[in-house]
Amino acid sequence: MKNGKGGRVKGVGEELHGQVRKGKPVSMSRSEMTEMVLPSETNPLGKLLGGHIMHLVDIVAAMAAHRHSNSLVMTVSVDYLDFRNSVSVGEIVILNSQVNRAFRTSMEIGVEVFSENYLTGKRTHTTSAYLTFVALDEHTGGPKEVPPLIVKTAEERRRFLGAGKRRKIRLANRFGKR
Ligand SMILES: CC(C)(COP(=O)(O)OP(=O)(O)OC[C@H]1O[C@@H](n2cnc3c(N)ncnc32)[C@H](O)[C@@H]1OP(=O)(O)O)[C@@H](O)C(=O)NCCC(=O)NCCS
Repeated sequence: MKNGKGGRVKGVGEELHGQVRKGKPVSMSRSEMTEMVLPSETNPLGKLLGGHIMHLVDIVAAMAAHRHSNSLVMTVSVDYLDFRNSVSVGEIVILNSQVNRAFRTSMEIGVEVFSENYLTGKRTHTTSAYLTFVALDEHTGGPKEVPPLIVKTAEERRRFLGAGKRRKIRLANRFGKR
């Protein structure tokens, strides 16, 4: 990729690994899932079950991780989940995921969940989550290196920097360590 002056613009992921490897832009793995909320997925108040939202969050995050790494992946960590607004039966639930940062063998995936009332067209942000996935070698089953992430927009850069700070906290607290 060239910058405006004809020079080469490095993907941030390339700098992180200290060697030139082919990076992938965020757009190549961005994923979306859309579902109608059915009565079987709701609590007695007619609201989408938190556990069901967690399941969908894990799946849409896995899609982005699979696409970025072109590998088998496993969820290794989920940051806390806030449920800001409920999703009602009959509404449409929309989940968006993207790779925020690729490390050596792991990736932080950001997920945003929205509900949509199709009568009014109103979309409401209901949940945000960060998940860490590890890419696995299909032969050995062990962790495998992932491509660097190329960030292009100010928003992607903001998420990239935030992911570095969150990773430090996660690893410090790994397996309940404090
Ligand atoms: C995924 C797994 C194979 C990784 O094995 P491991 O021995 O932890 O391997 P490592 O210590 O080398 O860690 C691998 C990567 O995960 C990262 N990682 C491990 N634990 C983490 C945590 N709690 N938070 C964030 N990153 C973590 C490491 O930093 C490393 O990433 P990096 O290479 O980008 O720096 C192993 O932890 C596992 O099998 N966990 C169970 C996963 C599971 O069952 N998930 C639910 C079903 S998908």
